[in-house]
Amino acid sequence: MSRKLFIETLGCAMNVRDSEHIIAELKESEDYTLTQNAKEADLILINTCSVREKPVQKLFSELGAFNKNKKEGARIGVCGCTASHLGEEIIKRAPYVSFVLGARNVSKIGDVLHRDKAVETEIDYDESEYAFKDFRSSPYKAYINISIGCDKQCTYCIVPKTRGEEISIPAELIINEARRAVESGAKEVFLLGQNVNNYGRRFSGEHPKTSFTQLLQEVSKIDGLKRIRFTSPHPLHMDDEFIEEFATNDKICKSMHMPLQSGSTDLLKAMKRGYTKEWFLNRVAKLRSMVPGVTVSTDVIVAFPGESEEDFEETLDVAREVKFEQMFSFKYSPRPLTEAAEYEDFIDPEVASRRLSTLQKMQDSILDEITEGYLGKVFEVYFEELRPDGYVAGRSGSNVMIKVKGSEELLGKFFDVKIIKTARMVQIGEIIEP
Ligand code: SAH
Ligand code: SF4
Ligand code: F3S
Repeated sequence: MSRKLFIETLGCAMNVRDSEHIIAELKESEDYTLTQNAKEADLILINTCSVREKPVQKLFSELGAFNKNKKEGARIGVCGCTASHLGEEIIKRAPYVSFVLGARNVSKIGDVLHRDKAVETEIDYDESEYAFKDFRSSPYKAYINISIGCDKQCTYCIVPKTRGEEISIPAELIINEARRAVESGAKEVFLLGQNVNNYGRRFSGEHPKTSFTQLLQEVSKIDGLKRIRFTSPHPLHMDDEFIEEFATNDKICKSMHMPLQSGSTDLLKAMKRGYTKEWFLNRVAKLRSMVPGVTVSTDVIVAFPGESEEDFEETLDVAREVKFEQMFSFKYSPRPLTEAAEYEDFIDPEVASRRLSTLQKMQDSILDEITEGYLGKVFEVYFEELRPDGYVAGRSGSNVMIKVKGSEELLGKFFDVKIIKTARMVQIGEIIEP
């Protein structure tokens, strides 16, 4: 009888893909099947995120709960970014943990499984050419890694310390993976990396010079593939060539993530983001002028050390001007191994909370205005998710989440949908009969 695997995935899309890789390896080589119930699992894995402090604090209480309720003889492993940065300390603090597998060591899952108390967190381990076995949690869209690690040194960010230096995955591997996904029914691919538009910067073997724009062109040649998405691009590398490809390639979905972080050029400098407020606004303007209907999402950090009221006002200013269709906003969280954690001018927590709430309120009212404008509009929706309330949900190319009344037969298909009721998160629509 096969053994059961429970896996909890925290963090970003890269972690989601790492979990799929782990599942693929364990299914094929170790005969595991997935369960949603940790109590019946033979192996419990937590794929962790380190980007802010809170989830790291929660890890140990969560591990304790899993340990208390687990089936007799079941084992617990910790993977992902917190595994990378805490390593052995995890086993010291939670001695019942069987192994620790870092975010850059995913291909070693079959190995650590058989070595009690194994800790594999090597930060320069190179798995950029490892062909993982296939597993995808959605038959409709395929997550595909195009690079590992990150070469930026944003002063607040722990990711380069948990995922190591940036290495691009050879284009042939990416194209083959995308082809296999499309052959098995996926019509959308989601290209993943911490800095995707820096693709081609470094390979581990000999490979011809290439760029993200060229990669997009290659991927879009795949017959049967309808939609290409990617995350995260970096505003610094949004050159004209890239924006033009984005604008003119019909398969590329017209939604761009442009992580602002701060609207103050001084703070952007302290964050080592490499661009100014003006460059950011210039890129958004170019994008909006070339791509009608494009949506722009962003990430913002408030209360970075040294952030003055004026700096914060600059962030509000950019939010007001750009009117992002989606914003993920966070209070700055000091992270170990990062430069900003050594700064001395931390912002008072009450001020930080007030700024976050000011920004979020403003964004909510912008969003209300944007979504009200969707009423009566028609979007082409790719349906991919059955909702328990009798609805089926999907996204427009511009990444607007839309649901309609319906059932399974809509899944994996495209329909034109007219919006009949708007809300901040999910729009309700009706399929227009062709
Ligand atoms: N490579 C991606 C970011 C990955 S981290 C990019 O550059 O867009 C996702 C988001 O978490 C970041 O964009 C940032 O807004 C936020 N973040 C990262 N470190 C943080 C910290 N120390 N405190 C608060 N938010 C942070
Ligand atoms: Fe972190 Fe900056 Fe790299 Fe993004 S680009 S992962 S924020 S260091
Ligand atoms: Fe978190 Fe690691 Fe992703 S820190 S955001 S899981 S790269």
